Amino acid sequence: MAPHTPADIGSTAPPVRAAVVGTGNIARFHAQALRSMPEQAEIVAAVDVDGENLARFGDDHGVHDHYSDIGEMLRRAEPDLVHVCTPPGLHHEQVLACLKAGSSVLVEKPPALSLAEFEEMAAAEGEGGPWVATLFQHRFGSGARRLRALIDSGELGRPLVAVCHTSWYREQSYFDAPWRGRWETEGGGPTMGHGIHQMDLLTALLGEWVEVSATAHQQARDVETEDVSLAHVVFADGAVASIVNSLVSPREESYIRIDFEHATVELTHIYGYGDDDWRITPAPGFEEKVTSAWKNGESGVNSGHAAQLTHVVRALREKEAPPVTSTESLRTLRLVAGVYASAFQRRPVGPADLVPGSPFHDRMNGDGPRW
Ligand SMILES: NC(=O)c1ccc[n+]([C@@H]2O[C@H](COP(=O)([O-])OP(=O)(O)OC[C@H]3O[C@@H](n4cnc5c(N)ncnc54)[C@H](O)[C@@H]3O)[C@@H](O)[C@H]2O)c1
Repeated sequence: MAPHTPADIGSTAPPVRAAVVGTGNIARFHAQALRSMPEQAEIVAAVDVDGENLARFGDDHGVHDHYSDIGEMLRRAEPDLVHVCTPPGLHHEQVLACLKAGSSVLVEKPPALSLAEFEEMAAAEGEGGPWVATLFQHRFGSGARRLRALIDSGELGRPLVAVCHTSWYREQSYFDAPWRGRWETEGGGPTMGHGIHQMDLLTALLGEWVEVSATAHQQARDVETEDVSLAHVVFADGAVASIVNSLVSPREESYIRIDFEHATVELTHIYGYGDDDWRITPAPGFEEKVTSAWKNGESGVNSGHAAQLTHVVRALREKEAPPVTSTESLRTLRLVAGVYASAFQRRPVGPADLVPGSPFHDRMNGDGPRW
C-alpha cells in the first residue's frame, strides 16, 4: 500500500516560518521534522539561555539567528510558529508571550503545569489564530489514524474495555536534572510526564471520560512526585479502562489494548510505533469484515514528531487550528489532573471536580499528596 503522504504538498502558501525555543534533547526531533519538509517550513530562529546548546543546535541545523531571550526573538524574527521545547515550568509564560506577539505555538508535553495555566493559554488564542497546539506525537502514526477511522465508521462495534500501560524505567540519576521529579517544575511524575502520551492516545480513541479512581505511589525513586500511578477510568460511552504509569519497570513497554464488540486491537511499543506494532484479533464471525477493513486503512507512517509536524504545518498553511488543539489537549490534561485528584483525595472524581476553585485545578498535587 502506498505510504501516507501529506495532502498539502502542492499548496501555494509560503513556508511556515518556525522558531525553536529550548535547544536541548527534544528540540532536535522538531528540527529534523521541519527540515524534512523544506517546501512547507523553515527554521528562522533559535532561543536558549545555554550558549553551548544554542551553538550546537545552530550548527547541526543551519540556524544562524540566535537569541537568549524569547521576547527579543519574537520582536525581531516574527515567526509564524514557535516550538516551545523548554522544561515544563517555563511553558506557561513562554506560550503566553508567543500568543501575545501573534505567533502560534507547538508546545512540548506536558503543555502546562496545571489546568489553570493551560486554560489561560487557551483563552489567549484568537479565533483565526494564533493557536496553541500540544506535541502528542502518538496520535499521528498511521496505526492510530487507521483505528480512529474504523471506530468512526462503526466497523469495530462499541469499545468495551481497555488497558493503557506506560511501564518505563528511569534510574535515580535521571532525576539529577533539576526540573525533574518535582511538582513545581515538572508538574508530576510518570502520570504527567511520561504516561501522558499513552493517555492522550487513549482519549483520542475513546473520547470524553466521566470518572476516574486512582492511586499514586512512591515505590523506589527518591522524588517529590509519584513514581507509579494506577487508575480505573469510565468513558462517556460506557467503555472502562485500566491505566498504569510507572518509571520503575525494568522491562519497558508501552501497551494499549482495546476490546471492541467485534475485535481486540493492541499496540505494543516503547517510545514510538510503526504499523507492525499493531495487532488486530477479530471476534468470532467478524474475521473477514474486520481483517479487510484493517488492511485497507491508512498505513506507512510511524508515530513521531515528523508525523505530527506534517499535520501542524498543513493546518497553519491552511489557516486552521493545528493539532493537537487546545480543546483536545485540555481533555488529556484533565485526565491527568483527575488521576492525581482521585489518588490524593482517595475517592472517585469526575471533570466537575476539577473546575476553578478545586485545588487540583490550580496544582496537580492539589492540597499536597498523602504520603
Ligand atoms: N514528546 C516527547 O516524546 C518528549 C520526549 C522528551 C522530552 N519531552 C519534553 O520536552 C521538553 C524539554 O525536554 P528536554 O528533554 O529536551 O530538556 P532539556 O533539558 O534537554 O532541554 C531544555 C532546553 O531548554 C533550555 N532553556 C532553559 N531555560 C530556558 C529559557 N528561559 N529560555 C530558553 N531556553 C531555555 C535549556 O538550556 C535546554 O537547552 C519537556 O517539556 C519534556 O517533557 C518530550
